[in-house]
Amino acid sequence: MPSVLKCMDCGQTYPLDRPIITCPACGGLLDVAHDLDALRGTVSRALFEGRLASWDRLDRSGVWRYRELLYPDLPRDLAVTRGEGNTTLYTAQPRLADYAGVRQLQLKHEGENPTGSFKDRGMTTGVTQARIVGASSVICASTGNTSASMASYAAICDMQALVCFPVGYVALGKVAQSVAYGALNIQVEGDFDETLALVQEAASELPVYLLNSLNPFRLEGQKTIMIEMLHQRGWHVPDWIVVPGGNLGNSSAFGKALHELHALGLIDRLPRLAIIQAEGANPLYRSYAENWQTRHTVRAETIATAIRIGSPANFAKARRALEWTGGVVTEVSDQAIMDAKARIDAAGIGCEPASAATVAGIRRLVDEGVIAPDADVVAVLTGHLLKDPDAVLKYHSESLPALAPRYANRMHTIPPALDALAALLTDPL
Ligand code: F0G
Repeated sequence: MPSVLKCMDCGQTYPLDRPIITCPACGGLLDVAHDLDALRGTVSRALFEGRLASWDRLDRSGVWRYRELLYPDLPRDLAVTRGEGNTTLYTAQPRLADYAGVRQLQLKHEGENPTGSFKDRGMTTGVTQARIVGASSVICASTGNTSASMASYAAICDMQALVCFPVGYVALGKVAQSVAYGALNIQVEGDFDETLALVQEAASELPVYLLNSLNPFRLEGQKTIMIEMLHQRGWHVPDWIVVPGGNLGNSSAFGKALHELHALGLIDRLPRLAIIQAEGANPLYRSYAENWQTRHTVRAETIATAIRIGSPANFAKARRALEWTGGVVTEVSDQAIMDAKARIDAAGIGCEPASAATVAGIRRLVDEGVIAPDADVVAVLTGHLLKDPDAVLKYHSESLPALAPRYANRMHTIPPALDALAALLTDPL
């Protein structure tokens, strides 16, 4: 049976080439549903391993290498790829692992993608699907990374990109990217949630194809963060996967990936998912802490602007991912995020603020006895250090309002004299 779009609420199915984002019947979220019985005979660890030695452009991509699990009947010629994925799985130095509170910590660095964030994994599949349905314009609301990625992938295949930002809350590196890649950039006088509502309306009224993570093809690509990480680990499953939660696309994609890999026998057990939100942008945490009695929304505020989201579009799918994996949700303060970021940065790895919520979250969950200190933990770093240089320089110059940096690395200014330099060597403070 071919893969179909399937509504997670009413179960209605639609052919893959219908240009729909949510269920036309009930408005529910759609999944790309695969025939797992048929796939069982097709995919194997050996198939993916063999492709590591290939120069074929789809085999070289850390997304399309796993194409049977994403798009079994992919029209190959339409695939738009920048060789995304293939990101490093770092083993944290003991100092960083100690800070997190665990003996064994690995960091899957999605900031090493072509535009510097995990979004490229979802955009290679999303823009490919835009071509398959014949779109010539694509649109997204973004806190900055989705837009940078969409602008790049659209430009690669000569598509028009319409990018809508919440005015004033997008990190410098990200705005620069989508301006440079030639998108039509629109600042919306509202927050991310209002901007997303606007682009959803636009996508239903105008000839533009929506590429936010509501689009189920985005999530198919983002599944490969899990698939590639497990491949890198010889399919040895960790105890915990830790991810920051904003619009909850990644959390949803990770749940689907793990569920399918387990059903297909590519992994023998499921890891637990830990979703970390910023205290000021914590709707999922609030609902989780109340045992799902209410679906909360908040007016979001956090220094980690990537996850400054108060009404996550993929709420229901993230909840399903937590149920599949026995997962947990927690929240961390901006102070904890920025201090954890300083540790990740000073370990030579580096990431943007939202990504550091993972290490801050692990610290908290170890403290609370949820994660055991001897657990095998993988955290996903979602964006590159250079995405938000402003946050870095303000932290280290101690000029962030309401924050007291614990690991500030202050800049020194000296006259051009050897004794002044020598004094710094003996007394760096
Ligand atoms: N980390 C980074 C660096 C992000 O850019 C985002 C989301 C997240 C984490 C949260 O991921 O939405 O899948 O839960 N950025 C979106 C954007 C919203 O527009 O770039 P999520």
